[in-house]
Amino acid sequence: TWTMDNIIDDKVAQIREQVGDRKVILALSGGVDSSVVAALVHRAIGDQLTCVFVNHGMLRKGEPEMVEEVFRKQFNVPLVHVHAEERYAKLLAGVTEPEKKRRLIGTEFWKVFFDEAQKIGDVEMLAQGTIYPDIIESGARKTGGKASTIKSHHNLIPFPDGVHFDLIEPLDHFFKDEVRELGVSLGLPAKMVYRQPFPGPGLAIRIIGDVTPEKLEILKNADAIVREELDAYNERLFEETGDRNSEHSCWQYFAVLPDIKSVGVMGDERTYQRPVIVRAVESSDAMTADWAKLPYEVIGKISSRIVDEVAGVNRVVYDVTPKPPATIEWE
Ligand code: XMP
Repeated sequence: TWTMDNIIDDKVAQIREQVGDRKVILALSGGVDSSVVAALVHRAIGDQLTCVFVNHGMLRKGEPEMVEEVFRKQFNVPLVHVHAEERYAKLLAGVTEPEKKRRLIGTEFWKVFFDEAQKIGDVEMLAQGTIYPDIIESGARKTGGKASTIKSHHNLIPFPDGVHFDLIEPLDHFFKDEVRELGVSLGLPAKMVYRQPFPGPGLAIRIIGDVTPEKLEILKNADAIVREELDAYNERLFEETGDRNSEHSCWQYFAVLPDIKSVGVMGDERTYQRPVIVRAVESSDAMTADWAKLPYEVIGKISSRIVDEVAGVNRVVYDVTPKPPATIEWE
């Protein structure tokens, strides 16, 4: 029978043949596709692969630690963790326009990445977690299709002048659910394999207006609470229904930080602090989505935890808009 193990053996043989004795580099983000491709290519060619994890400081709470834990400790993959947090903080200071944030973050990402490739030396190949739907989407992009013209996604690699790598894209015939299965078979943790979509520009596009260290800190802490409570909610639904995709399970959920303050009261004191927006949607493919009809007590608990536990926040609001007309993200 054609099992996952057969598929992995097959891919491993193909990758070995394609790579030979060359060195391969891969941009590891901690997302599903790059993680699975890292595990797969490492299985095939071991230490000929180096993973470069560019930490731009706008990942969710706990994510850099998870990448370290899984790839360095569990898989023992040669991993370069680039601390680019300060570089990005400077780059983004004062920038408020969403598409400009995206552009700056994307361009800087490849600069940092190719600098690292240079340092490793003699690298001839670049492995990428391109999956089948990415190819269809970029086709739509080329023909002016609507799929990716609404927001720019930065999957196309801007090689610097005079630089070239041969690409290997071992997942380019797989759909997302197959990539996840592959990940499980390769021994990646469920938390990583079933991770919800997370934009490449990270929390920068969930902070409306300019990105500052203070806002980042608030958003990371509030977002961790939203995820913790809704992970638990999804888990309860699963226990009740036996269905991972039951009608009311949330598909994507996170916190957003708007660029305003509002008046509140604490004890006898008037406060003037930030609100946090909770966004939780039901969807199957992100093309359309509806706001999740969460039980009031779940929303209430998220709200009281955020105002109790996150300094600088005095109000929590819930986004009740479907896509369209809104998008899932706020920028
Ligand atoms: P929207 O906000 O357009 O998002 O409804 C649809 C899905 O795409 C994700 N998203 C992104 N993913 N880079 C990405 O890799 C991006 O710039 C980006 N913007 C949005 C979003 O989280 C949602 O799942």
